Amino acid sequence: MPDGAAPVLDVKGLKTVFQTRSGKIHAVNDVSFDLRPGELLGVVGESGSGKSVTMMSLIGLLPSPPADVCAGQVLFGGRDLLKTDADALRGIRGKRIGFVFQDPMTSLNPVFNVGFQICEPLRKHMGLSKAAARNRAVELLELVGIPDARRRLDDYPHQFSGGMRQRVMIAIALACDPEVLIADEPTTALDVTIQAQILELVKDLREKLGMAIIWITHDLGVIAGIADRVIVMYAGQVVEQAPVQELFSNPQHPYTRSLLKTIPSVSGDRAPRLQVIEGQPPIQMKAPDACPFLPRCAHGFDRCAAENPARLAVGQGHDVACFWDPATGGPRHV
Ligand SMILES: Nc1ncnc2c1ncn2[C@@H]1O[C@H](COP(=O)(O)OP(=O)(O)OP(=O)(O)O)[C@@H](O)[C@H]1O
Ligand SMILES: [Mg+2]
Repeated sequence: MPDGAAPVLDVKGLKTVFQTRSGKIHAVNDVSFDLRPGELLGVVGESGSGKSVTMMSLIGLLPSPPADVCAGQVLFGGRDLLKTDADALRGIRGKRIGFVFQDPMTSLNPVFNVGFQICEPLRKHMGLSKAAARNRAVELLELVGIPDARRRLDDYPHQFSGGMRQRVMIAIALACDPEVLIADEPTTALDVTIQAQILELVKDLREKLGMAIIWITHDLGVIAGIADRVIVMYAGQVVEQAPVQELFSNPQHPYTRSLLKTIPSVSGDRAPRLQVIEGQPPIQMKAPDACPFLPRCAHGFDRCAAENPARLAVGQGHDVACFWDPATGGPRHV
């Protein structure tokens, strides 16, 4: 991936709030990142850090109300998706941007067979005839490694195992040959072996099809195996971004450093217990005016309570939103 290539997707200053009875929840707070042609961008962060809401905001998948994508730009194919009307956005979603979300609203429909669900976008977006769509559906199921593909078109989602259902969802996301695939990793449904198979599949597909991928996960260990670059999210913010090797060898944010300690040792002699980060991620009832990680941080000082740190470049493609400097163990000079 050439470093200077124009991004396929460029997200700037994205903010999303939810209007709830107890007040506004600031779920996405000034998130910026880009996605370059052919790269696999990993997005990592604990539950509730805003990974899914960020990605759903980009492509207009959040119901409004309660969601309000209230600031930012999402540049894709020469236009701002946040200013694109619903009809045009439907034309882009599922066609030029494929997605697999954890959310039941966007997953397989139990009342239609999978053949119908794969053929629908092919007929709608690509104008294929019924027979051509079925042939393409068979190809897609074969591509994602589903045996006996033609016969399985008539099966319903419940007749597939969890891992196979995930493959079907990827097949649907890939149906129209998208430029971007956004995949929100199912964290509970699949066991480790199946997850590893899905990751292999994604790596393989990227090589074959050359699209850019955003892969969302809780697990930095997963990221290590597949990503080119990583963004780390905490409390609806990007707290660190770096090329994958740089992130692992030179993590800067105390949150990233804690996440890295939670990865079991890869040498086989697994730590008997995973180290977990003490405390809970916050639910943001107001726009952050201090570092959101401060209550759980071992290195915080006065400034972290007075100001939310902006992202600061610390290396090639590496930036961090933190006032503490791991090199000196003291404040950063900014
Ligand atoms: N419909 C909603 N109404 C109110 N708050 C919401 C709604 N959906 C999400 N949120 C809030 O937005 C924040 C971010 O949620 P999000 O689902 O993006 O987290 P996530 O990083 O994807 O977590 P997970 O890893 O569990 O999928 C959370 O604080 C969540 O409570
Ligand atoms: Mg999520």
